[in-house]
Amino acid sequence: MQITMDIARSAIKQNVQEEHLLRHAQAVSAAMEAMAGHFGENPDYWAAIGYVHDVDFERFPDEHCQHVRQLLEPYSLDEADLRAIESHGWGSCTDVEPISNLEKSLYTVDELTGIISAAALMRPTGISDLSVSSLKKKFKDRRFAAKCDRSLIQKGCEMLGMELAEVMQLCIDGMRPYHKELGLSGNAE
Ligand SMILES: [Fe+2]
Repeated sequence: MQITMDIARSAIKQNVQEEHLLRHAQAVSAAMEAMAGHFGENPDYWAAIGYVHDVDFERFPDEHCQHVRQLLEPYSLDEADLRAIESHGWGSCTDVEPISNLEKSLYTVDELTGIISAAALMRPTGISDLSVSSLKKKFKDRRFAAKCDRSLIQKGCEMLGMELAEVMQLCIDGMRPYHKELGLSGNAE
C-alpha cells in the first residue's frame, strides 16, 4: 500500500529516538509537503515519504538506506515508496537514481532543510522572517553549516529544472507553520 503519515509516524517512532533526527524528519516532511503543492501532487503522501526517509539512519548509520526494506516490511509498502526512500542516498549510500519529481525533491530538500534550519536558528525571530536573500548569503558562505553539501543541493535543483531561489522559498514557506516542532520559533515568545 501507499505510505500514509500514520504509517510514517509509527515507523519512525519504532526506529528513531534522537531529537535532532526527529526534527530533521519533520523538516523534510514539511518541505516535501510544499514541493508536492508546487507539482500539483498529493501533499500528504509526499509529507509521509519525507517524514520516514531516514528510518534506518539511527540504527544503521554505517549502512544507511540498506535497511529501509527490512524496517518497513511490516507495512507492505508499494515498491515506488521504497524506491523513493532509497533514492535519497544516491551517490553516497545507494545507486538508486532519483527519477520522479518526488524523488528529485527528496534528494534536494534533505540537504536544503539543514541549511534552512541552521540559518533560522541564528535569528532571534527564528524562521518567521527568514528570507530567501538572507538564506542565499548563508548558502554562499561555505563556512556556515559547512556540513551541508551545496553542490548536492544545486545538482538537485538542476535535476528538478528549478531555480535554487524557488526551491528555497517553497521549503521556507513549507517549514514555517511547523516552527514549534522544528524548534525554529526564535527567542521571542
Ligand atoms: Fe535525511
